[in-house]
Amino acid sequence: MLLSQRSLFSIPSDIVYLNTAYMSPLLKSVMIAINQGTQAKENPWKIKIPDFYEDVNKARFLFSKIVNAKSDTIAIIPSASYGIETAAKNLKLSSQKEILILEDQFPSNVYPWIRLAEEQNGNIRMISNKEQNDLTSFIVNSIDEKCQIVALPNVLWTTGELIDLVKVRQKCNIVNAALVLDLTQSVGAMSIDFREVKPDFAVVANYKWMLGPYTTGFLYVDPKYHEGRPLEEGWISRKNSQNFINLVNYTNKYQTGAVRFDMGERSNFSLIPGVVAALEQLLNWSISEIEATLQNQNATLANKLKNIGLSVLNEQQRGPHFVSAELPSDSNPDLLSILESKNIYLSKRANSLRITPHLWSNNEELDYFVFELSKAL
Ligand SMILES: Cc1ncc(COP(=O)(O)O)c(C=O)c1O
Repeated sequence: MLLSQRSLFSIPSDIVYLNTAYMSPLLKSVMIAINQGTQAKENPWKIKIPDFYEDVNKARFLFSKIVNAKSDTIAIIPSASYGIETAAKNLKLSSQKEILILEDQFPSNVYPWIRLAEEQNGNIRMISNKEQNDLTSFIVNSIDEKCQIVALPNVLWTTGELIDLVKVRQKCNIVNAALVLDLTQSVGAMSIDFREVKPDFAVVANYKWMLGPYTTGFLYVDPKYHEGRPLEEGWISRKNSQNFINLVNYTNKYQTGAVRFDMGERSNFSLIPGVVAALEQLLNWSISEIEATLQNQNATLANKLKNIGLSVLNEQQRGPHFVSAELPSDSNPDLLSILESKNIYLSKRANSLRITPHLWSNNEELDYFVFELSKAL
């Protein structure tokens, strides 16, 4: 279990920040790396050809360790929507076949599928767990021979409700469906093993649980798609791009692996050093330690919320890093702004409070939050 890591962040002592699911603060080490990266561009004569390759490849390598994949399956992308669009452009959908998504899923993992279904004369099957059955069983039972693509998260972004992706993969194998994952609300805080889950494509935007800068992210691409079509035909992802003098000797060959799916200008000299610094810190803590610490912190918090009469998902139903509390129908509509006036920051999604503390949080703050919440309800 990790002790409070607050000193590694620049969060003023009177701020109670419980909103990682919205956006994490940057670590001091990440700020230093970004500032150094930005300064390099102030003196561009110091930026050499290897600088276009080394940090991005380091980021790929470090990320691949977090999800237990090979480094050459990882592409550098700016957003979850970019990665999902890449998946949609490289997956086949036959006429009348279906793409299965969950109701209330984050839109970046919905709109590309609506477009693909329209273009290929297929259908979206949006399933809604109205009866509140076990979410994994509900999804597994909904996947059938008509489903050609299953597009899901690991936890729902609104409530943190957990999906067992290994079970989903097993069912996808039976019906021969591709599995596309948006793991933006889980990777970095929750262990996942891509050798077990075997996604076809998986995306992560870095600015939440990965503690990274905005407009950076990763796309995992299963090797069977490595000959696929990228969204952009960038020059740097082509074979021998290191040879800047010869770039006009155009080639139809790409660098190996998933590099062809990299975004244009992926070697962002300011942000990529920040991504690397965040990954180094995550690996230094270790994902399993982060997960265990947040699980423990949130179990205590969930009990306190129950004690003030709120209903929370039990531990088996939710991600270890996520707590959501259903609000009573007569709760104060100004709840969030009242809490903000007390320097407490969190989100409300649909009728639930979404409470996502992290390693900078401590029990005293959580007690203060529960006390102020009970007054404001
Ligand atoms: C589940 C999930 N995916 C993705 C995103 C961000 O998407 P994008 O990177 O396309 O802006 C969010 C932001 O809240 C999210 O909750």
